[in-house]
Amino acid sequence: MRVVLAVLSLVVFVSLSGCDTLVPAQEPPLADPEERADVIARGIEAFRTPGVIDAGASCASCHAPDGFDLAYFDFSDEDLRRRGAAHASDKPGLLSHAQLEDIVAMVHALRAEHQIIPKDPKTHRPLQPGGEVLPGDTPQERDLAFGQQLEQTFRFASVPVLDRKEAMRQRDEWLAVNPRTLPIGIPLNRWSEDPHHGPAHASLADWLPLLPRIAREEYTDDWWALHNAYLANPTDERLFALLNSIQEYTGTSYDGDGAGFMRHKYGSVLLAQHFFRREVTGGKQFEDYPAVAFPVGTGGHRSRIPSHVWQVGDWARVNDHLPKAEIPEHILNHVAEGRDFREDMKDVKLSWFWSGWLFDQSLQFTCCGNSTRNGEYLTHFINRDWKPDDSGVNGSGYGIHNVFFATKRQITENFDPVHGRDDYLRINYANFHGYGWDISREPRDHEPERQRLYREITLNSYRMMLYLLLDAFETNGVLEERRDRWQERVILMANFIEHASKDAPLEHDRELVAKLEAWLW
Ligand code: HEC
Repeated sequence: MRVVLAVLSLVVFVSLSGCDTLVPAQEPPLADPEERADVIARGIEAFRTPGVIDAGASCASCHAPDGFDLAYFDFSDEDLRRRGAAHASDKPGLLSHAQLEDIVAMVHALRAEHQIIPKDPKTHRPLQPGGEVLPGDTPQERDLAFGQQLEQTFRFASVPVLDRKEAMRQRDEWLAVNPRTLPIGIPLNRWSEDPHHGPAHASLADWLPLLPRIAREEYTDDWWALHNAYLANPTDERLFALLNSIQEYTGTSYDGDGAGFMRHKYGSVLLAQHFFRREVTGGKQFEDYPAVAFPVGTGGHRSRIPSHVWQVGDWARVNDHLPKAEIPEHILNHVAEGRDFREDMKDVKLSWFWSGWLFDQSLQFTCCGNSTRNGEYLTHFINRDWKPDDSGVNGSGYGIHNVFFATKRQITENFDPVHGRDDYLRINYANFHGYGWDISREPRDHEPERQRLYREITLNSYRMMLYLLLDAFETNGVLEERRDRWQERVILMANFIEHASKDAPLEHDRELVAKLEAWLW
């Protein structure tokens, strides 16, 4: 008998190992909706039960209110149990080991309920426009791929602007382009970077926060009531109710500045999981929202759109080096292996500034100050914070992305109706061309194709803007208090034209500049 069993198990072993498809990843049936609802309700209870680490945080202190993120991504049961185990104990009132199984069951029930085909957390990057990063091993190669894509798709990257009609046509094209669906070469951060998967994943450059948001005692019921309301009907308004209460209703286990970084990450988690939910349950998708994604000006203040995503990037900008950055020791130890804090912060800056911009494409409603609103930060760091050498001496890392961003931001600010502006034209390429960086940081001669595309797109952007300015002067005249600023910007654009324009367009471009000079000097 024993021999037979041994032989049988050998057969089974051989056939299993010989064919991967014999063990499909199957969800438990959970066909009955009531049963599913029960499993989810039990799971949510466990998800909110305080654990034994992180100052009594529950899973819901860092993840989506019902763990939707854990269902949306293909985290295995092993990953769920492994991560959950650190929080579980036998202490009364705290998350028990048995409750971990409730969480695992909930994740399966959510997948069944919404027919989720879970995304690979290694390759699926939240908010990554078009779902995939453009091909290429370096920022320069991916920047080239971005330029080629623009050239194949848009007039503004393929047809020189040589008259006012074409300028207006391209302005409309810029206004219509949707940066939430247009693939880019900048890899946005993954949802989870877990050191368990190797040193390359020991990074702070992911979405999930390493400090919890725990309801203050007096607000515990209110906080979970907002969660319940949101889960019952996950509208934008109910999401905002949650976002707007984070600071008042919850606290965290650390009072250094890094708590702000993690709070904005938590707010960003709530925002992103909202769109994961819509992706699988239907309704308006992220890309369908207006260029300024959310109702603007609630409370009569400009910066009232939830800017958590942008602010994660902004924290990294301000605190990009140790020991200045205040981050708790246990978090640094968690990510330290083989990682350099600065490198993490570079990845965070570029990724989160770009993602933050996707929420508010003029940046006029994003928190905190003029440098954000003018696009100074993104136009600066997009050039400097690429690896392996961020000095800029070898030319720009993402120069074509940079001119794309700077142009789209300005066209949105000037012509998207949400801004209600028709008084005068605001031109501000910020650090894209401030200090002559459009010339000194352009792709070098050893990358002729990228240089060609960069110059074509930049020249066209400038020509369009000069025609728009001419149009504005002919309609409204020159506004005295803005004369200096316009002069400065026309000089910068004229410099680039002298540097990059050639042959017949150069004659046209010089004439165009001369017409503006006649108005301004
Ligand atoms: C203090 C905040 C916090 C709490 C509380 C928390 N998590 Fe997480 N979780 C994270 C972070 C941050 C990551 C990303 C990986 C990393 O940084 O280690 C993560 C990652 C995960 C992952 C993905 C791991 C992978 O393989 O990439 C799973 C699954 C997970 N958590 C489950 C849970 C469960 C279940 C609970 C509750 C028992 C929980 N988490 C509680 C912050 C938290």
